[in-house]
Amino acid sequence: MCGIVGILSHQPVAKRLVEGLKRLEYRGYDSAGIAVINDNQLKRCRAQGKIVNLDDCLAHDHIDGTIGIAHTRWATHGLPTEENAHPHMTETVAIVHNGIIENHTALRDELSAKGIHCTSQTDSEVIAQWLTVFEKESDSYVEAIFKTLAKLEGAYALGIMFRDDPTHLYGTRKGSPLAIGQGSNGEMFLGSDALALAGLAENLTYLEEGDLAVLTKDHIEIFDKNQKQTQRPSQHYAGGFEQVSKGPYRHFMLKEIYEQPDVVRQTLNAYLSEDKKSIVFPELSFDPKTVSKITIVACGTSYYAGLVAKHWLEKVARISVEVDIASEFRYRQPPLSKDGVSLFISQSGETADTMAAHAYAKAEGQQTIGIINVPNSSLARAVNVPLMTYAGPEIGVASTKAFSTQLCVLAALSIYLAHQKGMITDADLEAYCQDLSTLPNLIEKTLSLSDSCKDVAEELAKTRDILYLGRGTSYAIALEGALKLKEISYIHAEGYAAGEMKHGPIALIDETVPIIVIAPHDELFEKLVSNIEEAAARKGQVVFISDEVGQKGYHSQAMARVTVPETSLFTAPFIYTIPVQMLAYYTAVHKGTDVDQPRNLAKSVTVE
Ligand code: M6R
Repeated sequence: MCGIVGILSHQPVAKRLVEGLKRLEYRGYDSAGIAVINDNQLKRCRAQGKIVNLDDCLAHDHIDGTIGIAHTRWATHGLPTEENAHPHMTETVAIVHNGIIENHTALRDELSAKGIHCTSQTDSEVIAQWLTVFEKESDSYVEAIFKTLAKLEGAYALGIMFRDDPTHLYGTRKGSPLAIGQGSNGEMFLGSDALALAGLAENLTYLEEGDLAVLTKDHIEIFDKNQKQTQRPSQHYAGGFEQVSKGPYRHFMLKEIYEQPDVVRQTLNAYLSEDKKSIVFPELSFDPKTVSKITIVACGTSYYAGLVAKHWLEKVARISVEVDIASEFRYRQPPLSKDGVSLFISQSGETADTMAAHAYAKAEGQQTIGIINVPNSSLARAVNVPLMTYAGPEIGVASTKAFSTQLCVLAALSIYLAHQKGMITDADLEAYCQDLSTLPNLIEKTLSLSDSCKDVAEELAKTRDILYLGRGTSYAIALEGALKLKEISYIHAEGYAAGEMKHGPIALIDETVPIIVIAPHDELFEKLVSNIEEAAARKGQVVFISDEVGQKGYHSQAMARVTVPETSLFTAPFIYTIPVQMLAYYTAVHKGTDVDQPRNLAKSVTVE
């Protein structure tokens, strides 16, 4: 949530700061701002709403300089107004902040007692005010920053500039990520993630918890949390501008839906052997033969990927699995056996609750696996075994291609563990691998259903409530479909286990409620059809998603039928995900919502 860019250069920086913000807009988009040092003064420009709203103010005020910081905000404290937008400033200090300062009220009261009053309602402004206090009382800017950090409780990534020190840019982090980028010709950058620095930085250095970086145009000095000078590894960064363009697509979400055949292929290639007969994993930090229980923890769509995996791991590998929402898990503090295995799934690798849940599991002595899309993210660096997905940058707030690639790794892990534990033979393993390797083509075929999904979506867009039903792995896909629809179309949707209908939700059914049925022709098909017929008998408007054989097996009324290609039971979740993504996408388009940046949301949820 929120994005930070900072540039220290020998050329004007305002234009590139705004371009960097535009690449980060997916992280938060309710207000934005930049500050620079110019003619020995701090100058600032802020605007409510999208980053494009900064253009007017920049054109009008001619704000530019060779050092600057910028921010795109997802409001936590205070309304999304210009007054609350970052950078926050005093006469001599400007800061941008990601994270939450939990003791901001106490810090504000302390400032008031000194006669210093904040002008915004944010938790962040106190940081600028305390830096100003300590700047006067310290021998160096580094000392002033460490004195300020000592007062802060909570999480932060900070970009800091001092009016009277225009040759240095400062960056520090605790609980929120921050990277330093080094350019090719004497320039330094700060970014809350690598994307902010795409096309700018040649090398990236990720700060560790509590680090403070002091940047000049050609030098990085880092102090650790104990204020000792330290070194952090730097790596080449190949990210270019093209990584984050929509190409010919109207929305990032649509582009990302259509990228699924490719990214699924890339992710499978990373874990299937060259002859597609077995699974190749990096060395695990535990003995796969002895695993009897896995705890899976994640949020949102990543959590639903975990629910699908529960079926695979329990059925195929006979490993008992508990799947938990990270925000519940971290405070419930369940007992975990020492040397047991916990698995964390996260597209961004920065989700605050997932990170905290991971820290708890680690402290309990668990071996931790991470299924993560963003290389070098906090989670990727924290787990014992990072298993990367290769979805590439996912910009649309609604997760699509990341989910499919998470399923790839989870499927590979399930059959790998099943084989290691002797639950499946070599021949079975080969058959599963072959099955997985057909997925890119099958997904490609399924994408050709877009026209029928568009038509159904036109009807869905007129409704107020929609139910998604499924059983087994399709229950997880029903939950995912409902989440996708509500987050981008703002239509109320619920995913339910079809067998639970009679226990309450059937009371909701009438002729105004569409029921999207995820119905692979599996061993639960007949049971599912009975559940749906009961709903259809109460005038529910059924959208029946199944393959040709399944369509023939459902005889009652349907408002629409979406016929997907035939799949195995094992790979069905991949295929049935595609129509639910497209239904959500086209419904949102019919409703005219902001598909890529839906209201109130941000791509990566780095606060609790
Ligand atoms: O980056 P993560 O996978 O940890 O994010 C978890 C959720 O915030 C995320 O999946 C969210 O639910 C998506 N917006 C769903 O489309």
